[in-house]
Amino acid sequence: MIDKIKESIAEAEAFEAHTKEEIEAFRIKYLGKKGVLNAYFAEFKNVPNEQKKAFGQVINQLKTTAEEKVNTLKEVLESKEEVKGIYGDLSRPGEPIAIGARHPISLVKNQIIDIFSRIGFNVSEGPEIEDDWHNFTALNLPEYHPARDMQDTFFIQTDPDILLRTHTSSVQVRYMENNQPPIRTISPGRVYRNEAISSRSHCFFHQVEGLYIDKDVSFADLKQTLQYFTTEMFGKSKIRLRPSYFPFTEPSAEVDVYWGLETEIDHRITKGTGWLEIMGCGMVDPNVLENCGIDSKIYSGFAFGMGIDRIAMLLHQIGDIRLLSENDVRFLEQFKSAL
Ligand code: PHE
Repeated sequence: MIDKIKESIAEAEAFEAHTKEEIEAFRIKYLGKKGVLNAYFAEFKNVPNEQKKAFGQVINQLKTTAEEKVNTLKEVLESKEEVKGIYGDLSRPGEPIAIGARHPISLVKNQIIDIFSRIGFNVSEGPEIEDDWHNFTALNLPEYHPARDMQDTFFIQTDPDILLRTHTSSVQVRYMENNQPPIRTISPGRVYRNEAISSRSHCFFHQVEGLYIDKDVSFADLKQTLQYFTTEMFGKSKIRLRPSYFPFTEPSAEVDVYWGLETEIDHRITKGTGWLEIMGCGMVDPNVLENCGIDSKIYSGFAFGMGIDRIAMLLHQIGDIRLLSENDVRFLEQFKSAL
């Protein structure tokens, strides 16, 4: 019997383990309730008295050997884990770093800025929360002017003077108040209108305002600038100007660019005509110049305001305007390759 226990001790000493599970199995095998050690203890009563001392000694030896083995194996394993924790597995392949993508609205906005900066326009900005003067009154839309209804406005409930700007034309006013001609500026930004949300329109969208004020600026200058822009932007130069009305420009026009009808999305966004309405424009009304402190007898100019969202939808073939504001990474990731 004593020899058998000695064998167990040798076996326990020789044991090696590489995982927590192996160590635990070892502990249960030797030190568990139904383990080797308890089995030997159960034999104790059958051992003749004169051998009891020697028997007890070897059993105790087995116990300490098994316990020490468990402890040292655990320590070795833990220290290995620590080393791994700091340096990781140095032979593992590198983790790919996820690259972000620019939002299609930013892509198109940057393109527009780039095209106009080449002909001397700078970039200006104004607040999205505006007052009545900059959004309406200075733009020839006094209180009770019916054209205020052209744009359903979000007002701040407690103060009817404060609103979310309905167009970037408010930035024109701010720019003219603070700068004298010659003025050549474009103002990109978000605008808000209280409209039903659908696949074609949203209660907020994006515009780029353009303003050119100098001596002897004519409608021909406006038309030529638009021609330059559409050719650079779309690679297409077929545009049409439809007479229109804006209180702050006279004469006024709406500009369409011929896009074509190649895809289903082209059909949807151009309502089956192939023509995309990209902006409103006109010669700045002398009243507006005067409201902003510019002498309308010396200076004249043109202004335009274009929507970015629909242009982005056509250029990137996006079928639903709501995708632009849902922040779905599966959508956004698709613009990784664009600059
Ligand atoms: N502000 C007009 C709109 O949002 C567009 C526009 C800008 C028209 C400048 C003429 C001149 O519809």
